[in-house]
Amino acid sequence: MSRYKINNLEEYFKEYKKSVREPKKFWDKIASENFTWYQQWDKVVDFNLAEAEVKWFTEAKVNITKNCIDRHLAKKGDKTAIIFEPNDPAEEAQHISYNDLHLRVSKMANVLKEQGVNKGDRVCIYLPMIPELAVATLACARIGAIHSVVFAGFSASAVATRIKDSECKIVITSDGGYRGNKTIDLKEIIDEALTECDCVKTVLVVKRTNNAVTMKEGRDQWLQPLLDVALENNVAEIMDAEDPLFILYTSGSTGKPKGMVHTTAGYMVYTAYTFKNVFNYEENDVYWCTADIGWITGHSYILYGPLLNGATTVIFEGVPSYPDYSRFWEIIEKHHITQFYTAPTAIRALAKESLDYVQKFPLKSLKVIGSVGEPINEEAWHWYNDHVGDKRCPVVDTWWQTETGGIMISPIPFVTPTKPTYATLPLPGIQPVLMDEKRNEIEENQVVGSLCIKFPWPGIARTIWGDHQRYKDTYFSAFPGKYFTGDGALRDEVGYYRITGRVDDVVIVSGHNLGTAPIEDAINEHPAVAESAIVGFPHDVKGNALYGFVILKETGEQRDRNNLIKEINQQISNQIGPIAKLDKIQFVSGLPKTRSGKIMRRILRKIAEGEFDNFGDITTLLNPEIVEEIKQGKI
Ligand code: PRX
Repeated sequence: MSRYKINNLEEYFKEYKKSVREPKKFWDKIASENFTWYQQWDKVVDFNLAEAEVKWFTEAKVNITKNCIDRHLAKKGDKTAIIFEPNDPAEEAQHISYNDLHLRVSKMANVLKEQGVNKGDRVCIYLPMIPELAVATLACARIGAIHSVVFAGFSASAVATRIKDSECKIVITSDGGYRGNKTIDLKEIIDEALTECDCVKTVLVVKRTNNAVTMKEGRDQWLQPLLDVALENNVAEIMDAEDPLFILYTSGSTGKPKGMVHTTAGYMVYTAYTFKNVFNYEENDVYWCTADIGWITGHSYILYGPLLNGATTVIFEGVPSYPDYSRFWEIIEKHHITQFYTAPTAIRALAKESLDYVQKFPLKSLKVIGSVGEPINEEAWHWYNDHVGDKRCPVVDTWWQTETGGIMISPIPFVTPTKPTYATLPLPGIQPVLMDEKRNEIEENQVVGSLCIKFPWPGIARTIWGDHQRYKDTYFSAFPGKYFTGDGALRDEVGYYRITGRVDDVVIVSGHNLGTAPIEDAINEHPAVAESAIVGFPHDVKGNALYGFVILKETGEQRDRNNLIKEINQQISNQIGPIAKLDKIQFVSGLPKTRSGKIMRRILRKIAEGEFDNFGDITTLLNPEIVEEIKQGKI
């Protein structure tokens, strides 16, 4: 992958202007020069944003795994593609070369084919952060099956919803997973999920923890014996540029998760290009992103972006606090990590611990350090910059989304002067705009507005699985002709962007995107609960935590409140996963509602934050008296 020929900010602005003036030429060059295609495109881009239709590299033919693996083999077959660092530091790390990866992905692809998985079929992957997760994901891409990786922290009910929505034919899971000093029984969760899913005919099980599991006759098989007899040679499927590559679910502001669909060629071009430039990647670097492959960050910047560049990428099974808080820094030292990419939540959690943990390690191998997933506050930014980056490694605060496929706004290392809490400038090829309340584009600087993107880029998700109308309504209707991100942003005097947070009913907790609606749905299913409303409130480690206002039914009023709190959180854990548990629950007798029956979350947010003044105009509420009651309850 070629790198920008940009050495300073002035050159950036020049390159940026060129990319906006002639976007087709800009992307055509990147796509032509850096990949192996079976067939070239006839149009670089074809779009109609009013209909939410976007196509890139039309009619081109390609296979992303040929670009991630095969084309590197001649020159660097023995180079390490993946370093697997296990949960337990006493277990030896594995170095998987590009040759090894080729063999493992080919065999896995053949196993899938033998199990009847064809091009276009959906495959649910529910695995811990072990090499098989990467191998299974890439094997799907190799045969043209659409992978739907579900983060292995989701509950049975959440997995079931996702499996059913995309009608997966097969599930790949493991007997269990290690996380810190815990073992998670993944197979058991899948067994429970599948009681609701008729579409799944086959379950392949990886052995990781040696937990005792129940294998259902005719449905479940251990993966290893199948791999042992699989053929080694697999011819990659020829895919159309716009064939779906994967589905990845993200929360929306209504109950049902949105299955974002990413297609093949555009996603490939975009992740490769952004990886190379945002991380300043050079041959022989060792890159580590601490995300889970179950999130978009893992898809784009553990797997596809790095492998497309022939890089060495780390898969870490564990957590930052196990066996102690120096684990990240110890791994950086051990594998001579050059680029480190993590989330503000992790930074804040580690910054709370003794400095000795990080200062024990010189961390001299690092060149660039990155942040993703939520706004990074000033204190965390400085801690990261001072103690991890040693003020010599640029901090790339990268703003993007599941829907954007790859990084959109970020400093370019050694080119863009960084500014704490600012994601800074759009990458060349990306055209952000701020919109005012009247839906007009704001031209000037030093303003806040709703962040939109006014020209498509190759990595944009193409639709929501099975619901194009929802895709159109969610992203293209608030500001016609533009992609609406759902985020608010501030633009400073030089044009730097600072993301201020969501402007919809999504709350980012520890970097996880949580819709309030599905959590409310889960709570409302508790037999003692009549109604509930969830809002986010600032939390010094998680960024945001969740505050629930809960109205009880008459029967619930008799119950012990502490038990109810436990049960409600258990209910959320069962339905969504422990990440969505509430930090605080307040029982109330009513919720502030507009005359049309909509909950006024703005007021609840203020109360949750402990701000009891400036509620704004509450006279339009159906029940203004409730505000005082809730306020008193909180005090
Ligand atoms: O609100 C923004 C926040 O995370 C949202 C996207 O979440 P998700 O689709 O889960 O993808 C996360 C990983 C890319 C955004 O709408 N967000 C992401 N990165 C940043 C951010 N907020 C502030 N600064 C960032 N760097």
